[in-house]
Amino acid sequence: MSVKTVHPAVSQGTSLRGKIAVPGDKSISHRALILGALSVGESTVHGLLEGADVLATAQALRAYGADIRRDADAVWRVNGVGVGGLMAPPDILDLGNSGTGVRLLLGLAAAHGITSIFTGDASLRQRPMERVITPLQQMGARFEASGGGRLPLTVIGTNRAAPIEYRLPVPSAQIKSAVLLAGLNAPGCTVVIEPRPSRDHTEHLLRHFGAEVTINSDDDGARRISLTGRPELRPQSVRVPGDPSSAAFPIMAALLVPGSEVTVTGVGLNPLRTALLDTLRDMGAQITERNRRQDQGEPIADLVVRAGPLRGIEVPSERAPAMIDEYPILAAAAAFASGPTIMRGIGELRVKESDRISAMANGLSALGVRVEELADGLIVHGHDGAAPARNGVCIDTEMDHRIAMSFLIYGLAAQGPVQVAGCEMIDTSFPGFIDLMTSLGAQMENAT
Ligand code: S3P
Repeated sequence: MSVKTVHPAVSQGTSLRGKIAVPGDKSISHRALILGALSVGESTVHGLLEGADVLATAQALRAYGADIRRDADAVWRVNGVGVGGLMAPPDILDLGNSGTGVRLLLGLAAAHGITSIFTGDASLRQRPMERVITPLQQMGARFEASGGGRLPLTVIGTNRAAPIEYRLPVPSAQIKSAVLLAGLNAPGCTVVIEPRPSRDHTEHLLRHFGAEVTINSDDDGARRISLTGRPELRPQSVRVPGDPSSAAFPIMAALLVPGSEVTVTGVGLNPLRTALLDTLRDMGAQITERNRRQDQGEPIADLVVRAGPLRGIEVPSERAPAMIDEYPILAAAAAFASGPTIMRGIGELRVKESDRISAMANGLSALGVRVEELADGLIVHGHDGAAPARNGVCIDTEMDHRIAMSFLIYGLAAQGPVQVAGCEMIDTSFPGFIDLMTSLGAQMENAT
């Protein structure tokens, strides 16, 4: 991706008003393309997220032999090669910033008798891949990774992958999905056991494309997901709902900027993604659902958000998997609450696009917020609506789209303007973010 450096400066403005839709769900978009590529015939995807992460996955799938095109009306058409039909990619696969893309594709590559080499940008090359290498090695793939199980890495896949039963050591939809996608080209039954449930879009979409997936509860309450291997996946039409993790940003802006009222339409409300809304309601937020409906197994609604005060709470740590990507924006909002907001059990945040615990702690304290950084958590002491901004501070987003957006939203409601460097990363998950926020009345401008 060619990078243009953008340094928007955000200044406190008038209330935000209007009705918007956010781009398609990132997790569902990756999976829709992948399963389309594993079906024989043409699948269509409506509402695909056209962000850099998903486009990198599309490019990699083309290298594996799938034909992927975008119509003039923004419908994506995927002509797949069938389970077991991937071709050896002619070149190194560069997944840019996308942890989901690389980990899911590693699952695919592991169970095909081909060799693939993966790399990514400086952020992705820091992220741990051991978590997917371990189960995929058990299935028979071989890996040559850089130090600490990182990218660039080579995977030598096998056409004779063994089905395994794998208990997830950390709640992670990416690890679960890598194993299930490898299991597609293994004979017999591949089982993933989740002690704590993570987003279940892979299970939903596998069924949608015709795979046999059963889900049971083990005696200890863990979720047992069983996939029958070597199905014939049939091409499908997929409609991608609005991404709740992207909706979190305009929702938070509407809550924090006094006098605002914003409607975000068509937001996916899969219960394994919506713990932020529960948390915000516990903090006193007014968020109303309208027009709740069900589409292809995913609940969707329009969310109406009105500005109002927030009170700090201790966020129950068992909610973490269902709001894992929302802690940066929650930490930013917590600076406006009354009292402390305590977030624990979020050690996984340290291995995201950046170390999100320290990125938020460093940025907030640079602006004048009192923050306590814990090994696996963060405590943010709120300023009762009047979160500070220090002149001359420029937030370093550490190549992390969600850190960039969190501080831009912070700046909309803070006591003074906030400058954020590295905003080009926003394009990985939320293309058009600045224009969309501006359409609601937000004042963001290019600082360079
Ligand atoms: C994702 C899973 C989560 C999340 C990421 C998207 C997915 O990561 O943070 O943004 O689409 O499977 P983990 O599975 O590593 O928790």
